[in-house]
Amino acid sequence: MMLTKEYIKELKSKGNGAIGNLIKRFSDSSSLIFILENLGQLPEDFDGRFLLDLLSHKHSTVRLWAIKSIGKLGKEEYLPILKQIATNDSDTNVRREAVSSIGRMRTKMGQSILIEILQDNDPKIVCQAIRGLLVFKGESIIDDSLKPLVNHENEMVRTIIYKEYFAERINKNNQPHIESYDYLKNVVVNADTIETMKLLKDESIHLTFTSPPYYNARDYSIYPSYKAYLEFLANVFREVHRITKEGRFLIVNTSPIIIPRISRAHSSKRYPIPFDIHPYLIEMGWEFIDDIVWMKPEASVKNRIGGFQQHRKPLAYKPNSVTEYLMVYRKSTDKLLDWNIRQYDRQTVQDSKVPEGYETTNVWKIDPCFDKVHSAVFPVELCKRVIQYYSYKGDLIFDPFAGSGTVGKTAKSLGRYFFLTEKDKTYFDYMRSKKSKEMFDAIETKFLTLEEFKQTIK
Ligand SMILES: C[S@@+](CC[C@H](N)C(=O)[O-])C[C@H]1O[C@@H](n2cnc3c(N)ncnc32)[C@H](O)[C@@H]1O
Repeated sequence: MMLTKEYIKELKSKGNGAIGNLIKRFSDSSSLIFILENLGQLPEDFDGRFLLDLLSHKHSTVRLWAIKSIGKLGKEEYLPILKQIATNDSDTNVRREAVSSIGRMRTKMGQSILIEILQDNDPKIVCQAIRGLLVFKGESIIDDSLKPLVNHENEMVRTIIYKEYFAERINKNNQPHIESYDYLKNVVVNADTIETMKLLKDESIHLTFTSPPYYNARDYSIYPSYKAYLEFLANVFREVHRITKEGRFLIVNTSPIIIPRISRAHSSKRYPIPFDIHPYLIEMGWEFIDDIVWMKPEASVKNRIGGFQQHRKPLAYKPNSVTEYLMVYRKSTDKLLDWNIRQYDRQTVQDSKVPEGYETTNVWKIDPCFDKVHSAVFPVELCKRVIQYYSYKGDLIFDPFAGSGTVGKTAKSLGRYFFLTEKDKTYFDYMRSKKSKEMFDAIETKFLTLEEFKQTIK
């Protein structure tokens, strides 16, 4: 006799005992799992006693499915055994399923068991218990048990409780999410980015894409120490955080850099910028989303592997770096991405759809771009992807370290607005010089000093 779904269904309808007998005949783990998986809905009077024996089965998937089936029965008499499994089973998934079954029963007795389970050491189990209890949110005994968990050791637990009980619903900037101020649209300010950002209202921009100065690796970046450099970047991104709209993105392009040795008696030093700036970003309220690797066809800096190629001595291996990072962050919020998307009208969502041919992996192979005036310009393709994947038409895109202004030019070509800051007069003038040619051809583009910009703010 073959074990089939139809056969299981037939036996189930035959009434009590039939499935129990089947289990005795097919007692190997995979048959048991097959039977349990295909039990489907269970009739109210279903005799689930045979399931209890399976709770001590050596195979955790069998135990898991036995628990699921017991959960379907919804009988209070099984609560003590479910509690025992929830607290004692050796497998987290089995324990979780037991907690979930207790929750699904929605009974008073189940409530008090779930409250006890909140003390569990495994955060996943605690989250599952919270889920079961939130069904009764509003009952004082439940709220009193859950609220203190906002200080729980585990960040996921804290986030759930914060969202359920403490998240403030007030938008500091009353402007609708999709709108931005006209005085920021297609504007380039020739000033220090922090000083400029200080003039902006909270939640003014939709997306930031930037490539900060590379510590002291190039001539335009002079910082007293690496720590001072990181703190400078932290201050920049703290302001960016403040002026970013709820739940929107920041994409930072950096890579580890190398400061050459001063003589043969010393070694060169590498600074892992993306990894060092990351903890600052998380701490100030950016949520990590993705690490995208920008891969270039060949190394753009000097050949590091040369020495090794001659001597091949281990330890002195120094690969040529052909990658940079695009670290993707989202301004932390209790709102889902769906909320952000829902703010846009249907037409805008339709018009902003990412066209065919988009990248499906986190390795983006893009040729670097060389420019006669600026030494580190973004390739247009790189900007294009970031802007298309992380913003909608009509959004305001910000680059605090504009350089030659590639972000601005690309944003514009994609039906977005841009706001740029660039400290260096040479680069600012360079952007302005290109105004009539390719990039800032629209009449509304403004090139302003800080003072001039201040005058325009309403
Ligand atoms: C790596 S480059 C950015 C290049 C740019 N992504 C492009 O496509 O041309 C960094 C730029 O930040 C500018 N910069 C450095 N410190 C700044 C500050 N405090 N405020 C504004 N701009 C600054 C530098 O002058 C430099 O042009």
